[in-house]
Amino acid sequence: HLHAALVFLPNNGGPAWAGPGGGAGAVYDVTRYGARPDGMTDATLPFLRAWADACRSPRPATVLVPPGMFLVGSATFMGPCATRAVTFNVAGTLLAPSGYGWDSASPGRWLTFESVEGLAVSGGTLDGRGAPLWACKQQQPQQPRLHCPSGASSLTISNSRDVVVDGLRSMNSELFHVVVLQSNGVTLNRVTVDAPEDSPNTDGIHIHMSSHVSVYDANIRTGDDCVSVGPGNSNLWIERVACGPGHGISIGSLGHQQGLDMEDVQNVTVKTTWFTGTSNGLRIKTWGSSKQGFVRGVTFEDATMTGVHNPIIIDQNYCPQKVGCSDR
Ligand SMILES: *[C@@H]1O[C@H](CO)[C@@H](O)[C@H](O)[C@H]1NC(C)=O
Repeated sequence: HLHAALVFLPNNGGPAWAGPGGGAGAVYDVTRYGARPDGMTDATLPFLRAWADACRSPRPATVLVPPGMFLVGSATFMGPCATRAVTFNVAGTLLAPSGYGWDSASPGRWLTFESVEGLAVSGGTLDGRGAPLWACKQQQPQQPRLHCPSGASSLTISNSRDVVVDGLRSMNSELFHVVVLQSNGVTLNRVTVDAPEDSPNTDGIHIHMSSHVSVYDANIRTGDDCVSVGPGNSNLWIERVACGPGHGISIGSLGHQQGLDMEDVQNVTVKTTWFTGTSNGLRIKTWGSSKQGFVRGVTFEDATMTGVHNPIIIDQNYCPQKVGCSDR
């Protein structure tokens, strides 16, 4: 009788329970929602459904992505969640559809965690398959914005707090690999970024309008800044970052858009870094036309540079295209 009853339990959706000592609470395995690890079947809905159930759980919950390749389109994992302990545990690889984010309706993002409090993202590889977009931009170096799709950043943590990302690997993003946006209390541990030296706009980690963001033990090889600190950031700690190839670790550019407040950047520590074959090392760049805002309380400490073109640059007259800057 017991066996007969078990046959009628739904076999997709619904949590499995972690064994004793697992500590992960309810486990929502994306393959139980129909995701297939074949790199071909669209797994976007199964991922979103597994997330929705985990996020709804009143107790600690884990979305589990087993080994294998999962094709996932543009997806927003939306909070707030019922529990402040949601884990996204990824053993496999998330593969972007080729040419995703190429229509004008695209939000410019591939994967987003939005308005989540108390999130851990553990492991996983993200493959943004950015090569077709880079090729377009390389063929249109003068006006890529006019002739090429806008593309999408790979992972965005947006409007969230108390987030830990650990052991993530991001490769071949169309645009920025990892973006921290308007968030507070985000730690990025052991993030690896991989993209070719000539891939345009592929910043490794970009931090924007956020505070208390820490980056530890990152290994970044890419075509733009390894770490870029945009406007409105405070209390950042960046320690043990290997960068190269890449454009270095930058604060800015700041002050390009007139009339925006919150351009200020303060209390940033960048400690123990290794730059190898990069165009720049440590850099602060502000547009010559900027009229307000400030950068203060920045410490760059213990940097090792090998084959770096411009080891330290503080440029208060930034104007990369050399046109359209009011003071030129
Ligand atoms: C500066 O930021 C660090 C975190 O990176 C924080 O521990 C420290 O308290 C901040 N200092 C001030 C004066 O706010």
